[in-house]
Formats: sequence, structure tokens, C-alpha cells
Amino acid sequence: MTSDEVAVIATASSDVRDLPAVVETLSTAFDEVPIFRWFFPDDERRAAILPAFFAAVCEAHLSWGEIHRSADGLAAAVWVPPGAEMPAEVSATLGDRLGGILGEEAGTKMADLRPLIRAHHPDGPHWFLNFLAVRPEAQGRGYGTALLRPMLDRCDAEGVPAYLDATSEANKRLYERERFVVVQEVTLRDSPPLWCMVREAQ
Ligand SMILES: CC(C)(COP(=O)(O)OP(=O)(O)OC[C@H]1O[C@@H](n2cnc3c(N)ncnc32)[C@H](O)[C@@H]1OP(=O)(O)O)[C@@H](O)C(=O)NCCC(=O)NCCS
Repeated sequence: MTSDEVAVIATASSDVRDLPAVVETLSTAFDEVPIFRWFFPDDERRAAILPAFFAAVCEAHLSWGEIHRSADGLAAAVWVPPGAEMPAEVSATLGDRLGGILGEEAGTKMADLRPLIRAHHPDGPHWFLNFLAVRPEAQGRGYGTALLRPMLDRCDAEGVPAYLDATSEANKRLYERERFVVVQEVTLRDSPPLWCMVREAQ
């Protein structure tokens, strides 16, 4: 498998039937991610919470963000378009759902971290890669790159930057190959680092 052989599909708001596979991909991939292990240190609790967390996040993005997946469902990406703001009623519903899912400790960690990261987004319109995930058994086979590349071509065609937060040194290497540049390393209290990365339109 090379990244050129992975077929990528965008999920529109009418395609909610695609969401279970996307949620499964995000939940299994992020179970190993250091910052998610810091949000939810207990393995059993994390495994129980992640599907509900990503279901709420994906449903909230359907009406205004973009969700992409590989045709076989093994890879998924959640993007926020340039200038898009989560509609107020969607944000309120998401806040209520997450309040019930996260619990106080993880909810506080996420709420405290968000503005530290937000400060490093580009000032102007940009595509924001909120989540990129490949199921553990399919990682390292080109899926992540396959989902990224068409969107980076789109950024170049539209002349807008892209932004993301890298969660490990290995991810950072992948993104640096695609011309993202670290603009800030962020930690909160005893959290593992996140790297805020921007890619200017090429
Ligand atoms: C990060 C991720 C999306 C990359 O997708 P992928 O399909 O595994 O990556 P590709 O095969 O297209 O590219 C391989 C590159 O990805 C990076 N990478 C990150 N995590 C990796 C992993 N677990 N296995 C293999 N490559 C990984 C490396 O830079 C690797 O290049 P290298 O072999 O030269 O070091 C995927 O590994 C994943 O879902 N990881 C867990 C969730 C996560 O960290 N998401 C990103 C948050 S920023």
C-alpha cells in the first residue's frame, strides 16, 4: 500500500452512517496518544470514554466542518474550514454532551489547554486539522499521508495556511515532511508536549 493507492472520501452531513467507522478509527488511534493518556490516565476509563467523546465531536463537526475517511474506513480526518465558526447551538449541545462524558478532571485539563493552543493558530483564515487518525493495525502504511495530501493541495490552490497540533515526535516528522513548521511547543502543568504547527500555502 502506498499513499497514492488510498481512496479518500469526504463525509457530508447526510452521511451520518459513515460515522461509526470514523469514531472507531479515532478512538482506537487516540487511545495511545500521550496527551489523551494524560487527559484519561486510567486505561479502562479512557477506552470507555473515547468512543463517546469522538462521536460527540464528529457529530458536532458534520454541519460546518469536514470529515474525511479512507474508503476502507481505516483512516479518518476532521477538518475545520477557513473562517468557520462552530454555530452557537452546536457548540452549546457539544458542551452539554462533553460535560457528561469527560468528567471534571479531563474537562478541566482540556479547557485549560485549549486557549494555550488557540493562541498559535494563524491570525487569518486557515484550514485546521483537528484530528487525523489511522487504526493502529494500519499505521505506517501511507494512510495518514494519503488523507493529508489532497487537503494540502487544496490549501495551496486556495492560498491559505494549514494548522495542526502534533502529539509526538513521530507525528512531527510526518508533518515536517509535508512542510509544516513548529511555531510553538506547548505544555500544561505536567502534560506531555504538543507542537503547534503551521504550513504556509506553497
Ligand atoms: C499519526 C498518524 C495519523 C500517521 O498516519 P500513518 O498512516 O501511520 O502515517 P504514514 O504511513 O502516512 O507516514 C508514516 C510517518 O508517520 C509518522 N508516524 C507517527 N506515528 C506513527 C506510527 N504509529 N506508525 C508509523 N508511522 C507513524 C512517522 O513520521 C512516519 O514516518 P517515519 O516512518 O519516517 O518515521 C497515525 O500514525 C496515527 O493515527 N497515530 C495515532 C493518532 C495520532 O497521533 N494522530 C495524530 C495527532 S497529531
